[in-house]
Amino acid sequence: NQVPEACIVLFGATGDLAHRKLYPALFQLYQKDKLNEKFAVIGTGRKELTSEQFQEEVRQSVDPNGKYAQETVDTFSSHFYFIPMDVSDSQSYRELKELADELDSKYDLGGNRMYYLSMAPRFFGTIPTFLKQEGLTETDGWQRLVIEKPFGHDLQSATELNEQLLQSFPEESIYRIDHYLGKEMVQNIQVIRFGNAIFESIWNNKYISSVQITASETLGVEDRASYYEKSGAILDMLQNHMLQMAMMVAMEPPGGLDPKLIRDEKVKVLRSLRFYNEDEVAKNIIRGQYKEGTMNGKEVPAYVNEDNVDPQSKTDTFVAARVFIDNFRWAGVPFYLRTGKRLATKATEIVVQFKKGPMALYHENSDNDQPNLLRIHVQPDEGLSLSLNAKPQGDYPTLLPIDMSYCNNCENEMNTPEAYEKLMYDCLVGDSTYFTRWDEVALSWEFIDGITNAWKNKDIPLYKYTSGTMGPLEAEELLNEDGYTWWNPTTV
Ligand code: BG6
Repeated sequence: NQVPEACIVLFGATGDLAHRKLYPALFQLYQKDKLNEKFAVIGTGRKELTSEQFQEEVRQSVDPNGKYAQETVDTFSSHFYFIPMDVSDSQSYRELKELADELDSKYDLGGNRMYYLSMAPRFFGTIPTFLKQEGLTETDGWQRLVIEKPFGHDLQSATELNEQLLQSFPEESIYRIDHYLGKEMVQNIQVIRFGNAIFESIWNNKYISSVQITASETLGVEDRASYYEKSGAILDMLQNHMLQMAMMVAMEPPGGLDPKLIRDEKVKVLRSLRFYNEDEVAKNIIRGQYKEGTMNGKEVPAYVNEDNVDPQSKTDTFVAARVFIDNFRWAGVPFYLRTGKRLATKATEIVVQFKKGPMALYHENSDNDQPNLLRIHVQPDEGLSLSLNAKPQGDYPTLLPIDMSYCNNCENEMNTPEAYEKLMYDCLVGDSTYFTRWDEVALSWEFIDGITNAWKNKDIPLYKYTSGTMGPLEAEELLNEDGYTWWNPTTV
């Protein structure tokens, strides 16, 4: 279905995210005829670009190799306009309003507006205030505010930001992005669980022994030190993407697919999440930082020697957490979450480990006594695999581990919509299911604040790990204590 007519106002239009993700996402929607012909994009930024120069940037971004029909690319980019803006000057907003109103009439957009903030977070509060003050939130159509992460840096700053936003936009119109929720297999968790009676009936502490979620990255801090030094892996990945995936795995079946029902169930998971005191943080959360090492045959520097990083930095580039969801379904089942930079592979995978059968009929004679695992491959492969045990041909009675696999993106990789394509589409049609609601964000900050405060107040070690490995040994030991080991991401 096509999205309704709308004007998209993008703050941060010359930035990296806009070029790498947002323009290609819109172009894909356009190509698939999901974007209404009646649309306009106003890019804003500090640069003094003309609309023609901006359109050229957009063409480069959506079709760098000249793969698409020239006419399609040209027509698409002709809908883009640029206006240089100082976002803390009200005059800029008056000019923006003039242009937006003009485009409303030109393309017959019915006053529908999507304001997308892809800017440094210090502007997140300012821009909506000016939008309201200068009358940009009063049109004949709907107005939605899309806001990138980070949403605050702790509960207090997030609350302040939220209160400020609510002065200009109601909660229903605020679309907080967590791009992991736009990933195909993260959305698929719900369908795998609630679309298959065989899984849902064993999806509990009677049959599942533990859940692991790994999001490993090979990249280092790159050129983002000024942001990353203050956030570390815990704020950058655990507070949002990792907890969101855990919620999707752990939530109760919703009463329907209404965004409210789904988000209600997700938030209940956070309400049951065990919050840790300082001693518990020390026992359950491992933090690490990468040392120099070799990746793909290339020497890479230690985090502390990266550009713009404090040589004494104590920033975590890795975190592994053992968390518990204290409710009927999950009591006693550890959820292990780990994420880090400069690890051996770029992959995200969720592994649900099942308990062993009540009696080891075949295990005595076998070295292959492996538990049943359901692996949800989020990326780079997208799919599902179930490890079972069978009998090898001829031999008896021993066990042969086998895998039943489904690959979602193997056949035709290009067909998988990018996370941003889905999220832009959802926002334009007004579906907030895969955006984070304020109560989720607040609870996740409360949980994370408990950890970061303990790190500040207590002498909790920061373990160094060699670049190109899967993190510090202590993260391995965290699982060994409970009789588990990490399952490294696999291919489908
Ligand atoms: C972002 C983080 O939210 O997610 C980055 O700020 C991280 O540090 C990125 O690299 C990972 O996303 P993806 O989609 O590449 O796994």
